[in-house]
Amino acid sequence: MSVPMLDLSIQNQAVKQKILDGIGGLIDRSSFILGDNVKGLEAEIAAYAGAKFGVGMSSGTDALLVALMALDVKAGDEVIMPTFTFFATAGVVSRLGAKPVFVDLDPMSFNTTGALVEAAITGRTKAILPVHLFGQLADMPAILEAASQFGIPVIEDACQSMGAKGWGRSAGQFGDMTAFSFYPTKNLGAFGDAGLTIIREDEALHARVRRLRVHGMEPVYVHHEVGMNGRMDEVQALVLRAKLEMLEGWHEGRRMHAAWYHRRMKDLAPDEARLPQEVVPDGRHIYNQFTLRVAGGRRDALQAHLKSLGIGSAVYYPICLHEQPCFENLGYQKGQFPESEQAAAEVLSIPVYPEMSEAMLEEVATAVLGFFGRK
Ligand SMILES: Cc1ncc(COP(=O)(O)O)c(C=O)c1O
Repeated sequence: MSVPMLDLSIQNQAVKQKILDGIGGLIDRSSFILGDNVKGLEAEIAAYAGAKFGVGMSSGTDALLVALMALDVKAGDEVIMPTFTFFATAGVVSRLGAKPVFVDLDPMSFNTTGALVEAAITGRTKAILPVHLFGQLADMPAILEAASQFGIPVIEDACQSMGAKGWGRSAGQFGDMTAFSFYPTKNLGAFGDAGLTIIREDEALHARVRRLRVHGMEPVYVHHEVGMNGRMDEVQALVLRAKLEMLEGWHEGRRMHAAWYHRRMKDLAPDEARLPQEVVPDGRHIYNQFTLRVAGGRRDALQAHLKSLGIGSAVYYPICLHEQPCFENLGYQKGQFPESEQAAAEVLSIPVYPEMSEAMLEEVATAVLGFFGRK
């Protein structure tokens, strides 16, 4: 049996009729941008995250960009972030002329820590941008503690982790602002690109984000500053609202699969492969990815083995950001962030989507175990 890395067609069937009906209504009304669905979604996602305000954006990247713009991040400023993350986290900082300042990670969680962030703070630090990678919160109490000592704002990159919990709070309830992505592979995925910026409580920041989203305009055709076109469209908002009702069940499905993998693959030795760990106290990892660490330089061989058996897998991410060609000018060296570089060499994500059957999980686990000569 082949098992793809992700199969969205099953969950989309479950919401297809509802969405088709909704799109019929949209065509009748022919109002496609920033309409009632976007307004409704903004309120629903803000409530879901336990924050005051949500602003629907065209992507997770733009949700991050607008948050940085609302803090006036500009040339000469520094923004602290992990080097082991998706490119967008740093790309938005560079686009504003500011400098991404990279930090290493905790090998147990793949996330950065308060101590690593604190050590990177300088007089030029304008914001701290921790990432909740793969579905698990970064160590937010320690990161907020470091930030508050210096009065530096925090933006959560929760593009992979809407619904992740820890320390009695959810993604979106720690930072001044938070970015969510609804790229189709996310636990809550649109039918294209979409994202949302959470503003935890600051009304002035909320007003600024709304204005920046539409070219700094308010009222119509009066432009106070140069913003962007970061608008979300009604089709995406409608799709997301239809799916939001099912999101908790999907998170729990992923968590059940993760627990199943842990039981089935518990005999793997650390010098073979290690399974992802939940390190947040009383936390909820939402497993956007289930990411193994493959030891002994055998990651690519395991991936080829899985492929030969028709099993999908993916490497998120093979190259750290400090080693990307476009950031050569920042002057970082290979070897500077050893934990991140080791993670980039070892990670392999395997299928964990909620619609997988037990037979599919068994197929994946048997293949992984078989590679190491285990049953
Ligand atoms: C950590 C992280 N940040 C930012 C983004 C950007 O989101 P989008 O692809 O919706 O622009 C992503 C999306 O994959 C992400 O994983």
